[in-house]
Amino acid sequence: MRFDSWRAEPVDTLFIAPYNACMEKLRVGIIFGGKSAEHEVSLRSARSVSEAIDREMYEPIHIGIDTQGNWFLREDVPREIIREAPRRTLVILQNGGGLLRVASCQTDSAIDVAFPILHGPFGEDGTMQGLLKLADIPFVGAGVLGSAVGMDKDVMKRLLRDANIPIAKFLVAQERHIPIYQEAKDALGLPLFVKPANMGSSVGVSKARNEKEFQNAVEGAFLYDTKVILEEFIQGRELECSVLGNNNLSASVPGEVVPTHEFYSYKAKYLDENGATLEIPANISPQTTQEIQSLAIRTFQTLSCEGLGRVDFFLKDTGEILVNEINTMPGFTSISMYPKLWEASGVPYSELISRLIRLARERFEKEKLLKTLR
Ligand SMILES: Nc1ncnc2c1ncn2[C@@H]1O[C@H](COP(=O)(O)OP(=O)(O)O)[C@@H](O)[C@H]1O
Ligand SMILES: [Mg+2]
Repeated sequence: MRFDSWRAEPVDTLFIAPYNACMEKLRVGIIFGGKSAEHEVSLRSARSVSEAIDREMYEPIHIGIDTQGNWFLREDVPREIIREAPRRTLVILQNGGGLLRVASCQTDSAIDVAFPILHGPFGEDGTMQGLLKLADIPFVGAGVLGSAVGMDKDVMKRLLRDANIPIAKFLVAQERHIPIYQEAKDALGLPLFVKPANMGSSVGVSKARNEKEFQNAVEGAFLYDTKVILEEFIQGRELECSVLGNNNLSASVPGEVVPTHEFYSYKAKYLDENGATLEIPANISPQTTQEIQSLAIRTFQTLSCEGLGRVDFFLKDTGEILVNEINTMPGFTSISMYPKLWEASGVPYSELISRLIRLARERFEKEKLLKTLR
């Protein structure tokens, strides 16, 4: 199809589909996979959502993105997206192209709301959110700003520091200045943590105890991002708290992750069945619970998040609580921490999905009222 003719033809793709309020069931575009190192995790989360979504109210439309960035319309969420030529035409943005190849789809591929269950860069970082926003499609989760800020550990930590939310000491390494070992050691002590600024699932994260490990860790983290965070090691328990809402925010009971590995690494998270246990709710005092919930909500607000977010903490022996990070699209399988914490707080998995979809539509309706022209 020629680009200049696409308007004239009766095509209706996902990204020019209008918001359709008259359909009996809302068509929910579950977007999964993607180009990030967290591709596999996304497939698992999406499969769980597809299985649990309330089919009386919603019809899931499965939209897979392979690791190359090609989009496919699927019958369901596959275990892996095989790089075959698409059987059904739905290639919206071909990877690497200034080409917007709008394939001609049947009109039944319109969606009313999107649930981008993508983790990490190219999905959780505002890029997908920008695309959906431009296309006028309501979507679950944080918008462009909240997603981008939540993904970038450097910007995130600066904003938290500005809001007087306690965090660990950190330094930033990027091409213009990579702190040498001595500098990092003097500022942060040993051991220290090294992580790519924009990543998740502990990909590229390591603990360095000496100069050699430091060099390897920095080199390893730079494989994933042009910006790397060096952080003081925090000895403490790892607690997590789920936040839900747009303006009226609720915080779940906190949970605890107890890794059996040296830290909560990718291996402990996903490869080793016994890599960690989740304690839900966490065995902490009512006062600590309250402090965590209040910090979780403040963190969520400070970082301009919407819909959902899981805020992760360190609890030191001294009782001091530090925020480690927020995840704006946390792991979302039915046995993941985010939904489990809600379940323990009285919101079952399937109801949680419905609430998130409602929140997405509410925000969309509200933003629609804003003037865009003078
Ligand atoms: N400063 C730190 N002190 C102690 N452990 C840390 C520190 N930073 C990260 N970790 C460990 O590494 C894991 C992953 O780091 P995190 O900052 O959460 O990155 P990601 O976004 O990849 O999950 C944490 O869950 C924790 O186990
Ligand atoms: Mg983490």
